Amino acid sequence: MIKLFDLIEQYKKFGKTIDKKVINILSSGNYILGKNVELFEENSKNYLNGKYTLSCNSGTDALVLSLRALGIKSGDEIITTPFSYFATSESISLVGAKPIFADINPHTFNINPKNIAKLVNKKTKAVLSVNLFGQACELDNINKIVKEHNIKHIEDCAQSFGATYNSKQTGTYGDMGCFSFFPTKNLGCFGDGGLVVVKSKKDYEILKKLRTHGGIRRNQHDLIGYNSRLDEIQAAILNIKLDYIESFIKKRKKIAEIYFKTIRNDKVRLPFTYKRSNHTFNQFTIRVKNRRKLELHLKKHNIPYGIYYSMPMYKYNAYKNNNYEPLPMVEKVSKECLSIPIYPELPIKHAMKISEVLNNYE
Ligand SMILES: Cc1ncc(COP(=O)(O)O)c(C=O)c1O
Repeated sequence: MIKLFDLIEQYKKFGKTIDKKVINILSSGNYILGKNVELFEENSKNYLNGKYTLSCNSGTDALVLSLRALGIKSGDEIITTPFSYFATSESISLVGAKPIFADINPHTFNINPKNIAKLVNKKTKAVLSVNLFGQACELDNINKIVKEHNIKHIEDCAQSFGATYNSKQTGTYGDMGCFSFFPTKNLGCFGDGGLVVVKSKKDYEILKKLRTHGGIRRNQHDLIGYNSRLDEIQAAILNIKLDYIESFIKKRKKIAEIYFKTIRNDKVRLPFTYKRSNHTFNQFTIRVKNRRKLELHLKKHNIPYGIYYSMPMYKYNAYKNNNYEPLPMVEKVSKECLSIPIYPELPIKHAMKISEVLNNYE
């Protein structure tokens, strides 16, 4: 049976090492923000080549903590993409600010920098870009815009761990880069987990306080903060898996290469990848004019798929009172996109079968 993703296969590979480590932690009595967390922050900082890293409870928390650390508050506007997981704009709303949506590039699915500059006004405090599906957006062009307008740049890297742009890791272009370790991500733990990579020491110190109720010492609460600590078990699992991230990415790219080489159907539009970016294929997303028809075709042949995302962000009920204007590219893409299975352990013969079924689609 072909699966959309398979977390058990990956567990089988590291099961013994992980089990041993988890049992050690269970008997240590030290469960939260301990040695394993410190080690993961150090290891991820080295891997990403960042200045500071702070782990936290999820990718969503990484975004909220970052926005708060940069002082974003009610009345502020943050420019972001309308095509992402809801957590992206939700984090902006959670800190009381307003998401302002800039239309996407339909070929890369990422925010189009050309649409950002015209939305900047006095209320704009930051751009929250998303490196969607494992491919960096035009981070250099976005940095030019934020510099020119003296505003901040936060990168949502929930789907882009290990992806680079001009050989530099995503997350290190912006003032902050926010990662998720949700189990299906390229680097996933066995629960929730997140990380912020930070440029400035001052921002890092604020983030550190925000993570634990606004202070780092007992009976110190300088800010209204959160409880967003990473636990030792998740950190230990991440430390083990981080050693294999390059091989996970290589395997995903191999599957993508098979799709690029073998899918030959005018009705199926393949994703565009920039030469200067190292796409890590957290998703392999195609576009078709009549998606309903393709869904029926895939179902008939037992090929699983995902629809990421079926609606622009501004169309969700949570934003229905905000009167956002529809944006043409994201309206089109959200009707046409469909993601096919891609994960490191996907058997090559399954990838070939998926490609064959897509080639037979009329
Ligand atoms: C683009 C994007 N941003 C943010 C998040 C939120 O991450 P988490 O689920 O770890 O809170 C996700 C997770 O799916 C995501 O894909």
